[in-house]
Amino acid sequence: DYEGEAIKRAPVVTVMGHVDHGKTSLLDYIRTTRVAAGESGGITQHIGAYHVETPHGMISFLDTPGHAAFTSMRARGAKSTDIVILVCAADDGVMPQTIEAIQHARAAEVPMVVAITKIDKEGADLDRVKNELVAQEVVPEEWGGDVQFIGVSAKSGEGIEELLEAVLLQSEVLELTAVPSAPAKGVVVEARLDRGRGSVATLLVQNGTLKKGDIVLAGLQMGRVRALLDETGKAINSAGPSIPVEILGLDGTPEAGEEFIVVADERKAREVANFRQGKYREVRFARQHS
Ligand code: GTP
Ligand code: NA
Ligand code: MG
Repeated sequence: DYEGEAIKRAPVVTVMGHVDHGKTSLLDYIRTTRVAAGESGGITQHIGAYHVETPHGMISFLDTPGHAAFTSMRARGAKSTDIVILVCAADDGVMPQTIEAIQHARAAEVPMVVAITKIDKEGADLDRVKNELVAQEVVPEEWGGDVQFIGVSAKSGEGIEELLEAVLLQSEVLELTAVPSAPAKGVVVEARLDRGRGSVATLLVQNGTLKKGDIVLAGLQMGRVRALLDETGKAINSAGPSIPVEILGLDGTPEAGEEFIVVADERKAREVANFRQGKYREVRFARQHS
């Protein structure tokens, strides 16, 4: 393992919960009130990951549409997240994917903070939601359990400061550290092909610092980092531990949840990527013909 000075790092938080319970709205609210807009004006595109500065420290967030990213991350055994914000709508209560999210968090041994969302809505019933979560053995601190419950509204912003505080409190307990001077490694959050720019991959750096010009091996793909972009689309030169970043320069689009590493030797990286692609084709061929 790489020797270098370890420093405190920001928590990586995954927001999970039932369909339409307000995951993206919550993240959008935090982002629009917290992320400094780029010089060329505002934040337009949706990205699945970003980080914010709060008066008490930095937090990085991941969204999980349909749990795809988190499930595949779990399947690969990568510990992609430090804390789960379990979102549960005050007017709807515990639903099948709420329970699934609880199971994911438990299986990954990741602590939860509960955000009861949509408290501004008519029909919001916080006690009902609490009781339903207690039935799943998620017990609020005020009822003698060990989980922080915060009521929030992504419409009015009520409770959101408190939620960020709760996340940072949980983070303190975890004593998260990383070594910024190490070669970067982490996980793929999402990737897509862009007409003009080619492969655009959102990576979460878990350790080390990712830099322009680095050679990245990510799942079956490799490439030299041509550009790094922050969540406002601004070009940056490097991204340290717990920072999500978009990169250009990979040969193709790796899968969400796959690991990435920076390697010194471009030829070696190419060999490994080719080998993995060959294996992948073999497995796929065998499946199709069995
Ligand atoms: P999926 O990603 O599709 O699973 O949904 P989601 O959990 O990201 O929910 P989303 O943020 O898309 O919100 C679903 C709907 O609930 C939208 O119509 C939102 O405007 C609404 N909504 C979300 N949060 C709040 C809230 O705090 N108050 C009110 N009144 N509506 C909300
Ligand atoms: Na939705
Ligand atoms: Mg969503």
